[in-house]
Amino acid sequence: MRHLALIALLPLLLVACADKPESKTAQPDVKAGKSLAAAHCAGCHGLDGKGVAPGIPHLAAQVDEYLFESLVAYRDGKRTHAALRDMTKELSTQQMHDVVAFYSSLPPVERGDTRKEITLSPYEKGKALSKSCARCHGQDGNATAPGMPSLAGQQPRYFVAATQAYLHGTRNIETMETMLRGLSKLEMENLAVYYASQTPVRRGKPEVGDPQAGEPLTARCGGCHGAHGVSHDAMTPTLAGQDAQYLVAAIKAYRDQTRVHDVMLDDNTDQEIADIAAYYATQESIAAETGPMTVKDLSAKCDRCHAPGIENPAMAIPKIHGQNRDYLIRSLRAYRDGKRGSSLMHNMSLPYSEAIIESVASLYANQDAR
Ligand code: HEC
Ligand code: HEC
Ligand code: HEC
Ligand code: HEC
Repeated sequence: MRHLALIALLPLLLVACADKPESKTAQPDVKAGKSLAAAHCAGCHGLDGKGVAPGIPHLAAQVDEYLFESLVAYRDGKRTHAALRDMTKELSTQQMHDVVAFYSSLPPVERGDTRKEITLSPYEKGKALSKSCARCHGQDGNATAPGMPSLAGQQPRYFVAATQAYLHGTRNIETMETMLRGLSKLEMENLAVYYASQTPVRRGKPEVGDPQAGEPLTARCGGCHGAHGVSHDAMTPTLAGQDAQYLVAAIKAYRDQTRVHDVMLDDNTDQEIADIAAYYATQESIAAETGPMTVKDLSAKCDRCHAPGIENPAMAIPKIHGQNRDYLIRSLRAYRDGKRGSSLMHNMSLPYSEAIIESVASLYANQDAR
């Protein structure tokens, strides 16, 4: 029975395939494509395939199958851009093949400036910026002065949130506000990546409290701050290995509401707080980040698919070397924020912070197009 049903279906399936609008109709006509481009596309993409403004992608020498799939994606609403949606609705499948064949046949866009800028990773930028913090927080973020917080291994999103709290006055500490004033949010992210990647040094006996007495008191804290104070949540600080006096001051500040946060409340006595601090200070901590450190490490993942000359029969992979920087940033954000469908691969391979997106975009924009 099953076989019979399949055989009956077969002609139908064949007809359906032949009707598929994406299938190639005739041989693409590059000349017809050029006229179409001149009439409809050149205002933004140039007749040389070079985006006329930042944020408009270069199309010259781009993989034709990828260009075609992009047009279909705009037409079907899988990629959103109002002008392109309207335009692609007007084009026949044949016309799409023609215009795409024209653009992909053009020579790649030359970079105006042939010097190669050196692109630094967020880690490298953060390392350079951290020089001005070392005096208090230690060279690698392991602070040694009593009362001074360590930054080594700290969770990166918490780190950025803390810097914003000083800048916006919700944590009212003048030294820190002065230190951070003038640094952009992107620079804070770079610092966060650098510090998160440093290895915390294990501390000896604390100056305050009794670790053994503190341990049972931390039962309510572990759900958020992690077992033994090693947080696995990017927004929640690691407490393990933190300076004990700093911990005492911070917990008291929440209790006395001089430092306010909706989830952090405390009703412990001063002695209990000292014991909790002693317990956490003496726990072993780990670096929150162990990701790629240099731009080369970052792009190694991408080059598995995007390196020139790599062909993958399973997917149309665009060229990204020499692409417009603003456009690269835009498309990477779109993948990250789920605004551009398609690649599961990108959800897996893309690191998420703005700082990382900017670095990777600069790196590829700065390569010769091929
Ligand atoms: C009003 C300006 C404008 C016009 C006109 C225009 N485009 Fe675009 N095009 C853009 C912008 C902006 C993007 C990037 C949109 C996005 O972020 O997805 C884009 C993206 C594309 C992409 C995707 C490229 C990639 O690397 O993913 C293709 C293909 C494309 N356009 C082809 C065309 C063709 C063919 C025409 C003419 C029929 C055309 N465009 C007309 C502005 C324009
Ligand atoms: C003059 C000494 C000093 C310098 C220099 C300094 N800090 Fe601080 N930092 C402090 C003190 C003191 C605190 C604790 C403030 C508090 O109680 O909230 C602190 C707290 C922090 C915190 C919050 C830590 C936590 O666990 O919540 C971050 C993040 C931070 N500093 C980042 C930096 C960065 C980045 C720099 C360099 C741009 C820097 N600091 C330079 C003294 C300094
Ligand atoms: C519901 C989750 C949650 C629980 C439970 C919790 N915390 Fe927190 N804790 C946080 C978050 C989130 C922050 C960051 C708040 C901020 O940005 O000021 C924080 C901040 C802290 C800080 C400041 C760290 C620093 O580097 O400045 C200390 C110290 C702290 N908590 C100790 C404790 C202790 C001790 C307990 C148990 C008695 C506890 N927390 C229970 C979520 C929690
Ligand atoms: C497994 C293969 C694979 C890996 C790994 C990969 N990509 Fe892609 N990339 C693709 C495919 C396929 C597309 C086309 C997806 C689509 O149609 O939107 C794409 C599209 C892009 C685009 C959009 C280009 C345009 O013209 O619109 C950018 C930018 C990009 N990738 C950057 C990266 C970066 C940066 C990395 C490394 C962090 C990376 N990719 C890793 C396969 C991959």
